[in-house]
Amino acid sequence: MKLSPRDKELVAAAVRARNRAYAPYSRFLVGAALRLRNGRVIVGVNVENSSYPLAVCAERNAVAAAVIAGAKPGDVVAVAIATRAAAPTPPCGACRQVLAEFASGETPVICHNIADERTVRHRLADLLPYAFGRENMPEP
Ligand code: THU
Repeated sequence: MKLSPRDKELVAAAVRARNRAYAPYSRFLVGAALRLRNGRVIVGVNVENSSYPLAVCAERNAVAAAVIAGAKPGDVVAVAIATRAAAPTPPCGACRQVLAEFASGETPVICHNIADERTVRHRLADLLPYAFGRENMPEP
């Protein structure tokens, strides 16, 4: 699909980050890149562990890095994910929920497969309809 120069740049950041993924157990390397409202691009990679269930996805590590960089809810304006797979891979359910905390339903999630250079663009609301959010929480 045709990408804007900004989206291309975000995908390129995810592709570059993917090379630093730590995934010796699954060998499934994932790179994620988030564009923040202030224009900054923050990346994350999946980090696995010999205790397998402790693996953390690229998208959630990117969100953690964004928070460390000062991001607040609503600050994530675009997401790109790079994998080498049969098809562009969407984020897992847990990552959709974590992305939703800092993005909006309209936020594009651009999934790129480096094997065949195919890219698919979703809206976060299409990946996570009827999301549970802060607005569903009772007042503390
Ligand atoms: N993984 C991600 O990084 N993001 C996803 O959305 C799906 C899965 C990682 C976790 C694990 O390191 C490997 O891919 C295989 O599941």
